Amino acid sequence: MDFPAGTFTAIMGPSGSGKSTLMHCLAGLDRADDGEVHIGGAEITALSDRELTKVRRDRIGFVFQSFNLIPTLTAMQNIVLPLDLAGRKPDRDRLGAVVRSLGIHDRLQHRPGELSGGQQQRVAIARALVTRPDVLFADEPTGALDSTTASTLLSFLRTSCRDLGQTIVMVTHDPIAASFADRALVLSDGRIVDDIDEPTADSVLGAMRSLAA
Ligand SMILES: Nc1ncnc2c1ncn2[C@@H]1O[C@H](COP(=O)(O)OP(=O)(O)OP(=O)(O)O)[C@@H](O)[C@H]1O
Ligand SMILES: [Mg+2]
Repeated sequence: MDFPAGTFTAIMGPSGSGKSTLMHCLAGLDRADDGEVHIGGAEITALSDRELTKVRRDRIGFVFQSFNLIPTLTAMQNIVLPLDLAGRKPDRDRLGAVVRSLGIHDRLQHRPGELSGGQQQRVAIARALVTRPDVLFADEPTGALDSTTASTLLSFLRTSCRDLGQTIVMVTHDPIAASFADRALVLSDGRIVDDIDEPTADSVLGAMRSLAA
């Protein structure tokens, strides 16, 4: 399958259908037993561990199903951690724009334990976006959020895709969340069984129901 640059794709499917596995292979977090993954010009399935680490760091943003924030660091320290590890300085304008548009600018000196679930998830997204990745992979980024916070976040993702050309691949269980994407892929038992353009909550729900039937 292809994920053209600047598009927003939702990946759906029942629990255990392979959504997280697919994302981990696409992002070079797991090694695929078979097949190839290309990001931009790089075939990441052919890279050494060392080269892969560099591509992951420079070109890929990942938001995990669990937030994976470091509890002893503040929100700001968590956000700039990937840059720190790479020995790079954050681009102040970029950093400011990301935290403002995610609405966490006034929570940056707090530790994750002092933030709500939605705020923690937004910190995780800021961390993934601050490096300007070629692709943002997000595994159920709205799973722990109430519907208002979720829709703010999804609008933010859609805007970064439409206005800034950010490529996004997002796993979700929620047909409404999928309707924010340009396209929805449906997995079942590790295979793609549907590919819906301009998904609506209804069309996605229909596809999921036909799987269950
Ligand atoms: N590290 C692993 N080793 C072996 N099997 C695994 C591993 N991780 C996941 N699996 C299995 O692979 C299948 C797909 O798992 P995966 O986590 O990709 O599902 P998912 O679609 O993300 O599900 P969910 O919606 O519950 O997050 C499941 O049967 C799971 O038990
Ligand atoms: Mg999963």
